[in-house]
Amino acid sequence: MSENLIWHHVTVTRQKRAAQNGHKSAVLWFTGLSGSGKSTIAHAVEEQLFHIGCHTVVLDGDNVRHGLCADLGFSVQNRSENIRRIGEATKLFVEAGLITLTAFISPFCADRDKVRELFVAGDYLEVYCRCTLDCCEQRDIKGFYQRARAGEIKEFTGISSPYEVPNDPELILDTDQLTVDECVQKVILLLRKQGVIPSD
Ligand code: ADX
Repeated sequence: MSENLIWHHVTVTRQKRAAQNGHKSAVLWFTGLSGSGKSTIAHAVEEQLFHIGCHTVVLDGDNVRHGLCADLGFSVQNRSENIRRIGEATKLFVEAGLITLTAFISPFCADRDKVRELFVAGDYLEVYCRCTLDCCEQRDIKGFYQRARAGEIKEFTGISSPYEVPNDPELILDTDQLTVDECVQKVILLLRKQGVIPSD
């Protein structure tokens, strides 16, 4: 498909953007079951980053599925395509100098690994929101687990569709044991350790 296309090289590079912004760009890829805290933590991290003057964007499962991925459902193939598109969109945001926070279940290792491969080492930081299915089901903030158990929602992650635990994430957050604030601090520490934001 791309044989008659010629890549146009940018002159405002990521390096120049980073110098102007005072921080580097990267993706924080939150993964975990529905209700494991991905969106809550991603938005809370973004708040903190915004407060210290960082340039950020959050991409969130339910929101993106209203637009960019509105044509996709929850079959294995559709979830793969969902994550592929989000990976490509994320790459554009990272090129634009933003610390990009994504909150998608992204249940399959192969799909997450393909996204990782789009980036150079250190730019893709996988954050596993570890929370037992029991706990997610008890929270059931959206009421989807109850509906999935009743058979009203098919292919629901954790109930009738698998979630593959990350093999080697950059960070694990035990969201059934830690407060949101404790999780946020761990993520901020990771960004400092990786040199994405300056340590003070
Ligand atoms: S992913 O598997 O393709 O990464 P994504 O994060 O975009 O999923 O969307 C998950 C959200 O869609 C859930 O938080 C939930 O609100 C909603 N949802 C609706 N149907 C399902 C389903 N069958 N499985 C999982 N989530 C679902």
